[in-house]
Amino acid sequence: MLSVPSTLLRSSFIAAMCEFEELVGTADANGLSAADLSWPDRFETYVRRLAEGSLPWQRTHAGARVRCWWWVNDGEFIGRISLRPDLTPGVPHANHIGYAVRPSHRGRGHASAMLAAVLPEAFRLGIDPVILVCTETNTASRKVIGRNGGHLSVIVDGHCHYRIQR
Ligand SMILES: CC(C)(COP(=O)(O)OP(=O)(O)OC[C@H]1O[C@@H](n2cnc3c(N)ncnc32)[C@H](O)[C@@H]1OP(=O)(O)O)[C@@H](O)C(=O)NCCC(=O)NCCS
Repeated sequence: MLSVPSTLLRSSFIAAMCEFEELVGTADANGLSAADLSWPDRFETYVRRLAEGSLPWQRTHAGARVRCWWWVNDGEFIGRISLRPDLTPGVPHANHIGYAVRPSHRGRGHASAMLAAVLPEAFRLGIDPVILVCTETNTASRKVIGRNGGHLSVIVDGHCHYRIQR
């Protein structure tokens, strides 16, 4: 289920960040580590700011707000997805939607379901086509996008640019 970031998900969110750190060396929390987030004050501030869209990177070049949701299953944090309403001119591989699923829960259809849940929000904002970009070697993400109606428009420097139309 698509949910607004919530402090109620603290333990599963931190457990997920530990999984990211183990797999790729860093958490998936905008520069914060699992250890940083173990401080209740820091976690609460991070979640509040993420939910209200006030983290610095959540302002787009045109002043719109990047919206972030968490994907929750059985009361646990599973992944995150963000929607950027406008593409920054000149930024290579600019895209509207980014997502990640915690490593222990991959391959169960969560990312596909998460993207399917956010696409109507994008269309409601007038984004059409929705642009998604992933590396050519990111087979899982390419499957997720393809399953949601993505058409590969071009490959630039090893990055696949997909379009999803309403
Ligand atoms: C990409 C990502 C979000 C996919 O999440 P997920 O919940 O596992 O995705 P889904 O289960 O909905 O679908 C993934 C599909 O790719 C397949 N897959 C996963 N890894 C694969 C691999 N290395 N080779 C081939 N297929 C692979 C899965 O089996 C599944 O296909 P299936 O349902 O036909 O079996 C996840 O791998 C992730 O968080 N990666 C790191 C962040 C990232 O790359 N984000 C996308 C940036 S654009």
